[in-house]
Amino acid sequence: MDSDRASGTEGYGEQAPILLIRYEERTFEQEHGDAVEFFPREPCSIIDIGAGTGRDAGHFAGFGHRVLAVEPTREMREPAMALHPESSIEWMDDSLPELAKVLSRGETFDVVNFNAVWMHLDEAQRERGMENVAKLCHPGTRMFFTLRHGRVPRGRRMFDVTGAETVALAKPYGLTPIFELTEDSIDADNLAKGIRWTRLVLEQQ
Ligand SMILES: C[S@@+](CC[C@H](N)C(=O)[O-])C[C@H]1O[C@@H](n2cnc3c(N)ncnc32)[C@H](O)[C@@H]1O
Repeated sequence: MDSDRASGTEGYGEQAPILLIRYEERTFEQEHGDAVEFFPREPCSIIDIGAGTGRDAGHFAGFGHRVLAVEPTREMREPAMALHPESSIEWMDDSLPELAKVLSRGETFDVVNFNAVWMHLDEAQRERGMENVAKLCHPGTRMFFTLRHGRVPRGRRMFDVTGAETVALAKPYGLTPIFELTEDSIDADNLAKGIRWTRLVLEQQ
């Protein structure tokens, strides 16, 4: 399959022009809320999977981190590369659950970031995806998730994934929760629609 159209990316290519504006308007702090304090402050290596417009990758680069930004939707990735040309961000076209190009490098990272991405995978893909992303971890790696709950936007493919399921899926790989909180959306439109988000941080033992 053309990784531009990896499953989970439905709708993003068509909506990329508006999403580029919308996603870049939000701050890293708004996106991650109380989970912000769990991100390392010292320069480290980060993989941002489903990096979108690169808002988080740009924030990480600004703190001196080295970032591998993985984004399968070409219509998001190419403008994102122009928006965030920092030399400490490497962009890659690859997709969950296989992450074949990423895994072929045999690297591990201090942080694995899934911001609003994991719920695009179905149950079998989440199982396979966790098996693969566990290979990106070493002792002390922190894995960040935000999981969206509520009505699925038109044209997207999304599932209601709980923090509890994600914790259970990660447990056999030695990843344990250090933070979990479910809250209302901070976006006024999404709040009116009853959208809620779970923020979850796991750590590799
Ligand atoms: C809601 S956006 C979030 C973008 C970015 N993480 C952010 O926080 O702004 C979801 C992103 O996940 C990407 N995505 C969807 N399915 C994916 C998959 N199977 N593998 C990797 N990324 C995927 C989409 O292309 C899109 O850029």
